[in-house]
Amino acid sequence: MRSLNMDKLVIEGGVALKGEVSISGAKNSALPILAATLMTDDACIIKGIPELRDTETMFKILRTLGKNVEFDRGIATVTSGRRKSHIADYELVSKMRASFCVLGPLLAKLKKAKVSYPGGCVIGIRPVDLHIKGLKALGADIDIDAGYISASADSLKGNLIYLGGVFGSSVLATDNVMMAAVLARGKTTIESAACEPEVADLAEFLIKMGAEISGHGTPVIEIEGVKHLHGAEHRIIPDRIEAGTFILASLITRGDITIKNVLSQHLGALIDKVQEAGVQVRRMDSSLRVSCRRQIKPVNITTLPFPGFPTDMQAQFTSLMSVTPGISVVTEKIYPDRFMHVAELNRMGANIQREGPHAIISGNKDLSGAVVMASDLRASASLVLAGLIAKGKTTVTRIYHLERGYENMEKKLEELGARIKKDKE
Ligand code: EPZ
Repeated sequence: MRSLNMDKLVIEGGVALKGEVSISGAKNSALPILAATLMTDDACIIKGIPELRDTETMFKILRTLGKNVEFDRGIATVTSGRRKSHIADYELVSKMRASFCVLGPLLAKLKKAKVSYPGGCVIGIRPVDLHIKGLKALGADIDIDAGYISASADSLKGNLIYLGGVFGSSVLATDNVMMAAVLARGKTTIESAACEPEVADLAEFLIKMGAEISGHGTPVIEIEGVKHLHGAEHRIIPDRIEAGTFILASLITRGDITIKNVLSQHLGALIDKVQEAGVQVRRMDSSLRVSCRRQIKPVNITTLPFPGFPTDMQAQFTSLMSVTPGISVVTEKIYPDRFMHVAELNRMGANIQREGPHAIISGNKDLSGAVVMASDLRASASLVLAGLIAKGKTTVTRIYHLERGYENMEKKLEELGARIKKDKE
């Protein structure tokens, strides 16, 4: 694992981005699918995996749990090593909250699991009550002690489980419960399941391994337990959040970008808002073209579970509205505190006022370059977008946050004409 370097990105703003960019595989699909390889002793080949800090962390977690993982040019080959462990330790889980999605697979395969209780992060407290509720409903005994969650079960039995929480459905809770249910006895129905495309992609991989799942991608997922899963090969879906970030990069720089390897049906809410702002998004078979020649209009957004406007696009959209004259309101319903980017954008001359889960933006034409600090993955993307249009030089520090979820971001932007370079600490 590369050390947490303090590299930074230096951007000279003002270039209209033009050209083509190809989207990488979806981080939030790759992570649970890699975790699902724990459910078989056979070899699995996963293609289209983005080279990110987070995928590297998941490879490391699988190795500590007894898997051999070879990764080359986007393809991970996962095979079983000699010894198995059911313990995912604090050191690794604290680096990446998503590693909590090994809980369901370990419980399903080994009938026991001990995973560090994931901490919160800058975007919110990140509870796991729905994960625990679902696994208990399948018959697991859950114990929380010394910062670890231990789950065990002589056997798991299917059940009817309502997984809706105060903030709506939960992506990783749906993943964990679905994976545990795949090897449980009998039928499981998950109501208020997350509908995100990455949950559906995980289900497709599990079905290739021999699971019996239907309804994935809808609020009701039905699973008929099976006794055994075999190895499988799978290609990860494209990353809709990376694609959305490049759509907004075209708008904020008044550019003309063709985005390749994208499933537009995963971007409905964002494309709708972009069109409401006055920009036509041209859809070709597996690509989009976004050109923005004139001033866009301010629009309001509210984040919701899929198919609503994605919370993972909120920070980036806030940047765009910061340079769009007029008033817009951003309401964050998934993580009400997910506004770490606001203070940094205001340091660049934005005029954003927080009111609880709302950000009230008085958009103005110019931002000025500054030294700003990345705090989390999507906040760092929002600061890069702001730097692309700000007057003068913007330095984004702590870009290891960006490298968690965007593959070769600065190289992709440079190829579109951005004046951007990475400064090694
Ligand atoms: C996934 O996180 C994504 N991560 C997040 O992306 C994304 O922001 C989030 O879904 C929402 O879309 C991965 O897929 C690896 P949730 P997850 O459980 O599953 C509350 C990124 O930038 N909740 O769907 O952890 C929770 O607090 C990351 O790529 C409970 O109340 O999110 C939140 O308010 C950031 N109880 C809401 O539900 C629970 O047991 C949605 O969270 C679990 C969650």
